[in-house]
Order: sequence, then structure tokens, then C-alpha cells
Amino acid sequence: MELITDLHTLRQTLALHREHRRTLALVPTMGFLHEGHLALMRQARHHADVVVTSIFVNPTQFGPNEDLAAYPRDLDRDLDLCRSAGVDLVFHPDARDVYPRPPRVLVHAPDLANRLCGLSRPGHFQGVCTVVTKLFHLVQPDVAVFGQKDFQQLAILKALVEDLNLPIAVLEGPTVREHDGLALSSRNTYLDPDARAQATAISRGLFAARDAFQGGLRDPQDLIRIVQQHLDAQPLALPEYVELVRADDLTPISHPIDAPAVIAVACRFGRTRLIDNIHLNP
Ligand code: PAJ
Repeated sequence: MELITDLHTLRQTLALHREHRRTLALVPTMGFLHEGHLALMRQARHHADVVVTSIFVNPTQFGPNEDLAAYPRDLDRDLDLCRSAGVDLVFHPDARDVYPRPPRVLVHAPDLANRLCGLSRPGHFQGVCTVVTKLFHLVQPDVAVFGQKDFQQLAILKALVEDLNLPIAVLEGPTVREHDGLALSSRNTYLDPDARAQATAISRGLFAARDAFQGGLRDPQDLIRIVQQHLDAQPLALPEYVELVRADDLTPISHPIDAPAVIAVACRFGRTRLIDNIHLNP
């Protein structure tokens, strides 16, 4: 497995692979890898000759009061995990090389970004779209793999590829969870034991709502209430939103649910902001 930090070396190395007609898959990450990331890498392995993973804590997607400086990092451990997942090349650039000057051009998806997480994280998805566009141009992958755990991000990146005519197939991986249901996240490491125990209320609430939906409950407000009740029972939970939206354009669904939908949650436990979601297919 190769580790490349320099943009020019990356381009040269990948050009050589392309000359040999090898297909490329890209799995973008911010590192501090867990089984959710590794599942995406293994999925990528099945769809291309060369699997590239980027490890880059992207400053432009963090707000001024967010956890950019504190974001967990462990490159040596990440490299071992990438190797074990069959990655061929890790791209780990320096922020000064990715952003040699304040960006003059940004990529924005206003309709999809100005809702759900976008309301409390202004500029976040613009930072995501901008860095992923840069990674797409640097790597020029045939395939890119993203997780359903960040369902709004996935919807936005699918729109980015479609609307900007990028010749990239976007694949999605299901959310990987701890045994008790908590969605894996690099940020779970921030949780103290009490918060960690209470955080399972998010997935328990989502699973309960899905069970009710499968049992025939179709009123969005009733389904949302099931999730809220699970969160409200936890003294440390500070729910930010619980919404039921259409899976394609993220707009709220009114009664009855007649299209693929998603219940999406963002909830703080102390300083830790967690997100999760579940799909409902009528
Ligand atoms: P990061 O949070 O490191 O996540 C990298 C990829 O792993 C994303 O596609 C995310 O959806 C996926 N992922 C995270 N947790 C997962 C889980 N429990 N199950 C399945 N997939 C999971 O998302 C980002 O980084 C950044 O915004 C990025 C796209 C790299 C742009 O900077």
C-alpha cells in the first residue's frame, strides 16, 4: 500500500494506473477510521482495480465553533486499517496544499443543503461539496463510495455528480452499527460513559419508528413522536431535529407516506453532536 501526501505525486501515480487501463475507486474519509469506513473500502475493492482512500480533515466543512482542532487523528492506526481492508493507495495531503489560498470558487447545493444539518451547520455542505469536487478532480475515480449514515451528505453528493455531469458512479454503503445499535462515528470517542449509554436512544427510537411503520403506521407526526419520546427519556440528550423527509429531495413528507422516506435525527449529548437515520420504503 502506498502513502502519498503530495498532489503532484498523486496525479503522476494515478496517471500511470490509467495508462494501464486500471479502474479507480475513491473512498473519501477524514480518518480515525472505524468499521463503517472499512466496509466502504471493501465495497470499493469489488468495483475497481485500484482503491484509493483519502484521509483529510477538511477545514472548510467545520464551522468556527466546531471541533476542527479536536477532531480525533491517528494516522498510523488508520494506515494499518486501510491495509487490512485492501486499499492500494492512501492520499493524506496537508491542508496548505489542498487550500494554498482562501478558496475563490466554492461548490454549493442550496436546496439540499439549507435544511436538516445545514440549518445548524451553515457552510458545512459547501465545504463538503468543495473538497469532494477537488478530490474527484485530483483522483478522477470511476467509482466513489459514501455511507448512508451521512444521508444528507450522500444525497447532496449524488446531486453534485449528476448536475455537474461528472463521469463517476456513486455507490452507497449501509450504516454500520455497534452491537447496541449506535451508528459508528469517529465522534463517538468524545462520549463519556453516561452519554455513550444514553446515545443508544437514537437508534432505538429509529428502529421503533421503523417497526411501527412496518406495522402500518403512516402518519409522519406519529412516527416522529416515537423517536422524540426515546430521546426525551434521556436526561443528557439535547435533540436538534427529528424529521421525516423524502429520500430523493429531502423535503418534508405530509400524510400519507407514499414515496421512499427517511427519518433523520441530529442530537447532542453534551458537546458531542450525533446523527443517524433510517429508511422507510412504503
Ligand atoms: P467521515 O465522517 O470520515 O466519513 C467518511 C465516509 O464514511 C462517509 O461516506 C460516511 O458517510 C461514511 N461513514 C461514516 N460512518 C459510517 C457508518 N457508521 N457506516 C457506514 N458509513 C459510514 O463524511 C466525511 O468523512 C467527510 O464529510 C468527507 C466526505 C470525507 C468530506 O470531507
